Amino acid sequence: MDLAAFSAALPKVELHLHLEGTLEPELKLELARRNGVDLGQTTVEEVRATYAFDSLASFLAVYYPAMDVLVTRADFRDLAMAYFTKAAQQNVRHAEVFFDPQVHVARGVAFEDVVLGYHDAVVDAEREFGMSAGLILCLVRDLPLASAEAVVEQMLEFGDRIVGIGLDSDERGHPPADFAHLFARARAAGFKVTAHCDVDQEDTVEHLRQVIEDIEVDRIDHGTNVVEDPRLLELVRRRGLGLTCCPISNSFVTSDSKAPVIADLLRRGVRVTVNSDDPAYFGGYVTENLVHLTRAADLTPDELIQLQRNAIEVSWASAEVKEGFLAELD
Ligand code: ADE
Ligand code: ZN
Repeated sequence: MDLAAFSAALPKVELHLHLEGTLEPELKLELARRNGVDLGQTTVEEVRATYAFDSLASFLAVYYPAMDVLVTRADFRDLAMAYFTKAAQQNVRHAEVFFDPQVHVARGVAFEDVVLGYHDAVVDAEREFGMSAGLILCLVRDLPLASAEAVVEQMLEFGDRIVGIGLDSDERGHPPADFAHLFARARAAGFKVTAHCDVDQEDTVEHLRQVIEDIEVDRIDHGTNVVEDPRLLELVRRRGLGLTCCPISNSFVTSDSKAPVIADLLRRGVRVTVNSDDPAYFGGYVTENLVHLTRAADLTPDELIQLQRNAIEVSWASAEVKEGFLAELD
């Protein structure tokens, strides 16, 4: 069987995607022109030439400055709609997507323009593609804590447009426990909770312990280092926590794509899922990530289906969306 064609045709769920990481060079240049922003590059080739990443830090150093091209509510809507259009072409039926409001607010953009622009696209994607989507506000762990506290206050006012809260950016020196009070506040207000735990370093397992035991996350973004601690692995399994893995991005920002460990966890019954992270920068949307994992770890068609079953089960979609998706998978 042609597993690339099978992966492409499969109805899919995306749970780990940064909207700002879907900013393709063409749209980046168009928005720069629209808003009179000098990017330092004027052609797609010049933009791509700056994409030489070998670590999370080297990626983030290119990723954050590029966000300057996003200024108005319409810009945020256009970015998210470009992603939803691509996702619909790849048969994504449900997507839960991150955004980083602190970075935009720090540049003088109004919080509401970010949220309302992205939400406009969620509404349009549902109408145009019959696709459902949820927005996850990510706290940027290496910005001042006060700015995280400020966006959580604002999030409470826009609660009906946001499904959950996450934690991203550079993990080194920024333990999840620093944000525990904000996660507790968000959870009490009805938001779901997830957190990135990935960068291979000395304290990754302690960070995993914090997100699982202290913060009691509903999902972990990446999280494959949990194999290093049998007690935490058992907790992940017992609680049915989803791990939102991103093999192609891993191959740039961590030691490797982690395909063997992702497949091993899947085969041990952990609710592993496969996702895109920052596809405009790492060169693969969800289908390409599935194909990458399939080739690297010899996945079977049943395992590809299981990945989608895991994803819808650990998603925060409505019961109706979950039911419809599972019926389509059968
Ligand atoms: N923000 C956007 N992409 C990210 C990644 N791959 N890891 C951590 N934070 C991010
Ligand atoms: Zn991520």
